[in-house]
Amino acid sequence: MQSVRIRPYTSADYSRICELDAPLFAGMGGPILFRHIEELFPSLFFVAENESGGIIGYILGGVHLDNKTVGKLIRIGVVSNYQRKECGTMLSDALFRELRNHGVTSVHLTVAETNLPAITFYKKLGFVQKERFASYFYPDIPRLSLWKDL
Ligand SMILES: CC(C)(COP(=O)(O)OP(=O)(O)OC[C@H]1O[C@@H](n2cnc3c(N)ncnc32)[C@H](O)[C@@H]1OP(=O)(O)O)[C@@H](O)C(=O)NCCC(=O)NCCS
Repeated sequence: MQSVRIRPYTSADYSRICELDAPLFAGMGGPILFRHIEELFPSLFFVAENESGGIIGYILGGVHLDNKTVGKLIRIGVVSNYQRKECGTMLSDALFRELRNHGVTSVHLTVAETNLPAITFYKKLGFVQKERFASYFYPDIPRLSLWKDL
């Protein structure tokens, strides 16, 4: 989508990202997560801006210290009125490009088994399911582990 711009996150974006995250990932610790990622993996944190400069999406990733060829897509969110406009795909492309620049050759993530829109999105990006965890973040809430070669 031409009018959306992807750029690196800065700490000035923190409040807006927290606000945007709240309805998408209710009760899943966004504010804590964002502070950790901005300290640990600042170059793997991107935001999407609309034509007016408003933030409409974000993506954050990481790299495994014990195997630096493996990256993780930690969280992605796009505000509901901008979904299905390729914003998620553009954010993912930016993250994958930066992961490749760091020598990463495969990326993984987990997704709630019930989150069918996100699973469809990830499969369109080329992710394939490797594992299913019956309990991962929370007891008895299954998550799927998906992987993709970069
Ligand atoms: C998942 C999410 C990031 C996708 O972002 P997006 O900007 O809407 O994605 P895109 O427009 O780039 O979609 C690319 C493709 O993914 C698939 N897709 C995306 N959203 C979909 C949906 N709701 N239902 C079915 N397929 C979907 C489609 O194949 C789509 O291509 P198409 O529109 O040409 O059919 C977004 O829906 C979101 O923020 N969801 C809420 C938070 C969330 O669940 N994050 C993932 C948690 S693990």
